[in-house]
Parts: sequence; C-alpha cells; structure tokens
Amino acid sequence: MVSVAIDGPAGAGKSTLARRLAAEMGYIYVDTGAMFRTIGLYALRAGKDPKDNAAVNALLPEIELHFAFIDGEQHIYLKEEDVSTAIRTEQVGMAASAVGANPAVRAFLLEMQQDMARKQDVLMDGRDIGTVVLPNATVKIFLTATPEARATRRWKEYREKGIDTPYEEVLADVKQRDYQDTHRAAAPLKQADDAVLLDTSELDFEQSLAAMKKIIAQKVG
Ligand code: DC
Repeated sequence: MVSVAIDGPAGAGKSTLARRLAAEMGYIYVDTGAMFRTIGLYALRAGKDPKDNAAVNALLPEIELHFAFIDGEQHIYLKEEDVSTAIRTEQVGMAASAVGANPAVRAFLLEMQQDMARKQDVLMDGRDIGTVVLPNATVKIFLTATPEARATRRWKEYREKGIDTPYEEVLADVKQRDYQDTHRAAAPLKQADDAVLLDTSELDFEQSLAAMKKIIAQKVG
C-alpha cells in the first residue's frame, strides 16, 4: 500500500490540497483533524471542558465514530449523524486542539487511522502522521506557511462564508492553536526527519499543488 503523510499547522492548506491530490491520484483522503474535531464536538455537546482529560476519557466508550466516502468526499459520522459540517467551526477547532493533547484520545484514534492505511492507498493529513501514525509512509510532506499567511487565508474563507471575524482575532487563534499543537507532550506537531518541507506562504493553490505533485512523483513512480 502507498501512503502519503501530510503534516503541518492549522491553515497551511493541507486539507484542500490533500483532497484534490487524492482525487487525482485515486487514493482515499483521510482527514484526521476531522476525527479530533468530532471528539471535541462530542465533548462540547456533553457540556464537558475539552481540556478536562478525565471527563473526556469517560465519554470515549460511548463515541461511535465512522467515515463514509460519498462521491469521493469524506463524511464523518457520530453514530448515524453526519457531523461533517458541524465540526467546521472555530470553537470546535479549539476543542479538537484541546482533546488532541489527551493521550487516551490519541490512542483511541490511532488504531482507526493505521487500519485505514493498511486497507487502501491513502493520503492522510494531520499533525503526527509522518512521526507517529505512519512512520513508514511512502512520502512525507511537512506543509507550512507563516502565521500571517495562514490567518489571511482563514479570514478570507470566513468572509466568503459570511462569517465576520476580525483578522486580529483569526491571527490570535492561529497562533494559539500552533502553540497548543507544538507544545503538547503527546505526539506534538513536528516535522519528521525524513519529511520534505514545503512552505506555501508565497504560493497560490495551483503552485502549491504542483510543488506537492513534484515531491510525490519523486517517491511514487
Ligand atoms: O487539521 P484541523 O485544523 O482540522 O485539526 C484540528 C485540531 O485537531 C488541531 O488543532 C490539532 C488536532 N489534531 C491532532 O492533534 N492530530 C492530528 N493528526 C490532527 C488534528
């Protein structure tokens, strides 16, 4: 099986690029952030503080999470409910970052992630794919951009969706999430030694896509 691991901070363009690449390559795209977001959403709905590990751990046995691929698009479900849209808020992103620091949550999701890569060719994005989840991935890419470039993209996305958030607030959130994701003890965001670094600060979508294709083509015939 071929696996492409794409890691990097929030807002570097991982999911948009990975989704497009997977479609072109005929691979399954696995968005691991969606898994952490779903657990974050579950904790928020249960009225629990996502930072409270004990409270979140007590919820894990009741969380039934699964994926379905509809027209090549990944949908994520909590029991029967498609939560793919509900998990895309800033609040749930923060909750995901908080539950991502919880080792029990990471262990809970690790098996599921590795199992998906055993069964099919995947393009998987996250924070620890190249370092922890798929240490033997065929290709590893560490995708990054400056906090300002990432905040600008996020801010534009919000504006297109009609969400009016001040840029300064988006930038502060990006920086806070970077801090949380890189400073946690459990599987922190970090470039794998054998990952190729790609900084997209000065690249548009098509240029980033071309750069990624080049990196992948060097490893996958
Ligand atoms: O990629 P994203 O923004 O949807 O991820 C949301 C949060 O989930 C991110 O801030 C940290 C956590 N996460 C993680 O800890 N490990 C992953 N492999 C993916 C996401």
